[in-house]
Amino acid sequence: MSLKKSVEQRRVYPLFIIRPEQKEDILEISEVNNLAFKGEEEAKLVEAIRASEFFVPELSLVAISNEVIGHILFSIISIETDSGIVPTLGLAPLSVKPEFQNLGIGSALVREGLKKCKELGFEHVVVLGHPNFYSRFGFIPSKTKGIKPPFQVPDEAFMVHELKNGSLDHITGTVKYPPAFDVVS
Ligand SMILES: CC(C)(COP(=O)(O)OP(=O)(O)OC[C@H]1O[C@@H](n2cnc3c(N)ncnc32)[C@H](O)[C@@H]1OP(=O)(O)O)[C@@H](O)C(=O)NCCC(=O)NCCS
Repeated sequence: MSLKKSVEQRRVYPLFIIRPEQKEDILEISEVNNLAFKGEEEAKLVEAIRASEFFVPELSLVAISNEVIGHILFSIISIETDSGIVPTLGLAPLSVKPEFQNLGIGSALVREGLKKCKELGFEHVVVLGHPNFYSRFGFIPSKTKGIKPPFQVPDEAFMVHELKNGSLDHITGTVKYPPAFDVVS
């Protein structure tokens, strides 16, 4: 790498840490979501999940530089199977402030988040998102595991990730989102 390029990269890439959200981050988290999604639905979703019994405080993570520059949330959702309800995690939403996008922050949040989910003993995660982005972290179309979305969506956009190998092998069914998700269309 040329000296010029490495100097440029040092100037552009922010130093950041990832940690669970704290009370004082809450307004900034809403702002990051509003800016990243150019609308208020996702910030409302985060608020609704935070106020619900399905919120896991350790799984709302912020990327912090001088300010909150990214946020990821995993919360408890379920898979309805013939033999009952199987709890799982839903990854939603994930946001990085526009001026900090494409610098690896979103990827770092996903990797750190998945690590935390596993440490807490969760075995699988569901996401609705961009296949090109999420496949790099081991997400695969849920259809390949016999898990259906609760709404119409392209097969490749509805994905699952096994935090424990084979943990979805004997689970087939339909994902169900709690009422907090009703705020998103
Ligand atoms: C999607 C998002 C979270 C990614 O975070 P990020 O810090 O910009 O991503 P990273 O720098 O870690 O990774 C960059 C990669 O993500 C891809 N990417 C960025 N935004 C994307 C998007 N909206 N759709 C698909 N891929 C996207 C880039 O093309 C890049 O791919 P490459 O590595 O093959 O070049 C961020 O761009 C964002 O907040 N976007 C707006 C909100 C949003 O769409 N969130 C939903 C995620 S499902």
